[in-house]
Amino acid sequence: MAVLQQLYADHLRTVRERHDLVLAEHGFDHVVIYAGEQRYMFLDDMPYPFKVNPHFKAWVPVVDNPHCFLIYTPGQKPQLIYWQPIDYWHKPAETPSGFWVEHFDVHIIPNPEDAQQYFPTNGRTAVISEYDSQGNPEALMHHLHFLRAWKTEYEIECMRRANELGARGHRAAEKAFRAGESEYEIHLAYLRAASSTEEELPYGNIIALNEHASVLHYYQHDRERIDPTRRHSFLIDAGAQFNGYASDITRTYSKDEDEFAQLIGAMDAMQQAIVAEVKPGVNYPDLHLLAHRKVAQILKDFEFVKELDADGIVQTRISSAFLPHGVGHFIGLQVHDVGGFMADKSGKMIAKPEGHPYLRLTRVVEPTHVFTIEPGLYFIEPLLADLAKADAAKHVNWEKVDRFRKFGGIRIEDDIAVTQNGHENLTRDAFARVS
Ligand code: GLY
Ligand code: MN
Ligand code: MN
Repeated sequence: MAVLQQLYADHLRTVRERHDLVLAEHGFDHVVIYAGEQRYMFLDDMPYPFKVNPHFKAWVPVVDNPHCFLIYTPGQKPQLIYWQPIDYWHKPAETPSGFWVEHFDVHIIPNPEDAQQYFPTNGRTAVISEYDSQGNPEALMHHLHFLRAWKTEYEIECMRRANELGARGHRAAEKAFRAGESEYEIHLAYLRAASSTEEELPYGNIIALNEHASVLHYYQHDRERIDPTRRHSFLIDAGAQFNGYASDITRTYSKDEDEFAQLIGAMDAMQQAIVAEVKPGVNYPDLHLLAHRKVAQILKDFEFVKELDADGIVQTRISSAFLPHGVGHFIGLQVHDVGGFMADKSGKMIAKPEGHPYLRLTRVVEPTHVFTIEPGLYFIEPLLADLAKADAAKHVNWEKVDRFRKFGGIRIEDDIAVTQNGHENLTRDAFARVS
């Protein structure tokens, strides 16, 4: 924790400096950031899982307590308005403690209404809240979101730890798959090993056996075990959070040492070849286009496509039927972190390459950016049905494609932090530490 304490102090200095700059530039004297309120189900007293405002957790590692506020006036110590009800129905939040508390004036409030007495009464206040229609000044938000792309050392350390938790979960999940467990059982094994509740995950676990792997966001957890003769493959996309920072990790396994296992090996090698390209100055969309060329080459090498070379497979959009998502996205306080398209602090956007509508990151790579690299190759029924009707269908080896539908597909996903000269693979390093 000593390391984290020092890193956090530096992080907070950066967060303060960013707010000093942004408030001054947009004509504000204070910022008030609302953590968010507890929402309830319609006609019920059952709460939804609380998901904190990412702007709030950028300041304080408090992710599970609604009705709190962060109030900051440049030049002054930030104030944390901390909700701690007197309640015998629920367990109130613990009194704040730990390495970060000394940096704040903490005011405990028993009732949400009590927060108002601390709000600034002079000058102009920028309010950042998911509820306040008067708040979230657009230009100020763009500027803060643009700056979020450069992670502090503390943030990268939190993501190292989030990757380590995720890697532990992934190891246990693979073991559960090899033991023949159901998707639901694998999910439980993951949660236990990653030391997470379902609500603490940065996104819903994707635990997909067989053709379920072809559903990009498959969130069901089938309860039934599949007998060994019908169990072929396993795709798991699952992360974890540490102090509010996410990891986002995908691995794919074949049950047998078969051709699908070789295809996974080829995808793993190509993913690492793309990661090897990551360094400052690279245009991220070029990595996406590189993924298409590499998937095309694999489609050719494994004889899913005949006659055409890799360029032809990309040009005829055959590769898009097998890889229909972006090769990655920023990650940080949010698993799909903000600012991926921003050309500058004004909110001007950098367009996606034509024909690639699902790419979420179009910026040039810079030191301390953190993003995923997650190429895939899938056998997706509706996309293959469209391809079968297209002119390019004549180039496809349908007999072979049909034999692979039962495997669903492959995705390999790591989280990459950009360094001064290259990159750090937060995910592979984490797997190496836990094995
Ligand atoms: N797990 C969500 C994603 O990979 O983007
Ligand atoms: Mn991802
Ligand atoms: Mn993912």
